[in-house]
Amino acid sequence: MRMILFGPPGAGKGTQAARLLERHPDIAHLSTGDMLRAAVREGTDLGKLADRHMKAGDLVPDSLVVDLVVERMKRPDCEAGFMLDGFPRTVPQAEALDEALARAGISLDHVVVIEVPDELIVDRITGRRMDPDTGAIYHTKFSPPPAEIADRLVQRKDDTAEACKSRLAKYHSETTPVLPFYEGQGLVRHVDGVGAPVEVAVRIEEALS
Ligand code: AP5
Repeated sequence: MRMILFGPPGAGKGTQAARLLERHPDIAHLSTGDMLRAAVREGTDLGKLADRHMKAGDLVPDSLVVDLVVERMKRPDCEAGFMLDGFPRTVPQAEALDEALARAGISLDHVVVIEVPDELIVDRITGRRMDPDTGAIYHTKFSPPPAEIADRLVQRKDDTAEACKSRLAKYHSETTPVLPFYEGQGLVRHVDGVGAPVEVAVRIEEALS
């Protein structure tokens, strides 16, 4: 299976990706946000360039992100399929992905759009906490962590109310215009992202079947 998880910041893409991987363990999870945060942590040239864009809630330039994904897709763990999370995020990224897939002789099966209204997003983003040891995602209110790990959880630098506004604005202006590209190919499945994560997971599985 080759799919894209699409949706606004805080829609639950990372949360649902973890659940999807439990049911589809043979496919690779390619999150551009995770890849860019790893580059920032490692202090690579890419990480240094990406950091200021990410902190401000801006998009990282297309050329940097496209190269990152196209190289990553060549690794053997993508042969059985992959789930792109947070990519493509602009029309030029979608076009570059299309070209890379055509060169590789493969195509996408699904684009799953997790829909959550803007007014719910700020709470989801500002309450998010990440476990740096396992990458698990929690929420102070909606998905509280076990007490024994609560002290080691961290908050992302871009999870402020201010950066969230900018990320949402970018989603509407730069990212949603990607959808008609895939709607034309009959790949888009809209899923209601409001409700418990387990309910959203069931809706996604239904959309994929
Ligand atoms: P990225 O890491 O991709 O962030 P994002 O798309 O903004 O998405 P998030 O990770 O914020 O949210 P999510 O949908 O994964 O939600 P989650 O499951 O964590 O990108 C970060 C930055 O990197 C970008 O701003 C940009 O600068 C750069 N970047 C990345 N890709 C790029 C690209 N292709 N081009 C250019 N720049 C790029 O859930 C959020 C919270 O809600 C959690 O606390 C969770 O516990 C909770 N939650 C989840 N589901 C539910 C539910 N059903 N009900 C209640 N709470 C829920």
